[in-house]
Amino acid sequence: MHVVQSINECVSIRKQTKGRVGFVPTMGALHAGHLELVKCSLKNCDITIVSIFINPKQFAENEDLDNYPENIKQDLKLLKNLNVDYVFTPQKSEMYLDTHSMYLIENKLSQRLEGVSRPNFFQGVITIVAKLFNICQPTDVFFGEKDAQQLIIIKKLIKDLNYNIICHAVPTVRNKKGLALSSRNEYLNKSQLDIASNIYKSLCLVQIKISEGEKDAAVLKKLFKKTIDSFPELTIDYFSIADINTLEEITHQIQSTVLISTAIFLDGVRLIDNIKYTI
Ligand code: PAJ
Repeated sequence: MHVVQSINECVSIRKQTKGRVGFVPTMGALHAGHLELVKCSLKNCDITIVSIFINPKQFAENEDLDNYPENIKQDLKLLKNLNVDYVFTPQKSEMYLDTHSMYLIENKLSQRLEGVSRPNFFQGVITIVAKLFNICQPTDVFFGEKDAQQLIIIKKLIKDLNYNIICHAVPTVRNKKGLALSSRNEYLNKSQLDIASNIYKSLCLVQIKISEGEKDAAVLKKLFKKTIDSFPELTIDYFSIADINTLEEITHQIQSTVLISTAIFLDGVRLIDNIKYTI
């Protein structure tokens, strides 16, 4: 495994590679969810590049950029064990020169769900992902369904800006209690992790109700709120039942495949999760 720190080196390595080049962008603090993406790339591609870069542009002033979990030694060990070819760990100063002034904006999908609570988040994500695509020139990229809206927007980025890239969606990896693995789970202690698992359980409850015939989005929203409110530690940021393609909120009866998603605060830690329901 080769660790590449500079953009120039990454570009010149890419020029020498042939075949399918798989790329997995991450912000590090790697867990089994990230590693699942990496394994998918290793399986499907000739060469796998993983990037580790905590992108400051996707954090708002009041968010956790300064405390975001970091463990580069452990990350490199995990990736080496999997036989990853290249790990790209660029410096912030090289990724964003002092003169940097170019950002990419998506105008529709990114204004919903996460975009309401985190107005500049997707601008930051799309900009860094496009930069990384340009540097690594992958044939295939791997993104997790855990961040469902991000995945949908990246697919749109590839389509709208004509990137010749195949985007692979990897199902959410969960712990035994159903909690979606996340780098931010590192902020939580054992009992908080147990409480957090009720987020997924509550999403599943909604899914079950739909499959039993309850298609009224307002009723389902009430049910979710009632379930979450029974845990005093949990506060709903948003709960959404939205069309899987447009992310438009369903206000009446569910008639198409929907993304059921939520962001919940647990003692100040913001956790997101989602589940799909296919009609
Ligand atoms: P990060 O949160 O590190 O996630 C990197 C990738 O891992 C994303 O595609 C995310 O969806 C996936 N992932 C995280 N937890 C997962 C889980 N439990 N199961 C499956 N996949 C999971 O997402 C980002 O970083 C950043 O926004 C990034 C795309 C790197 C741009 O900065």
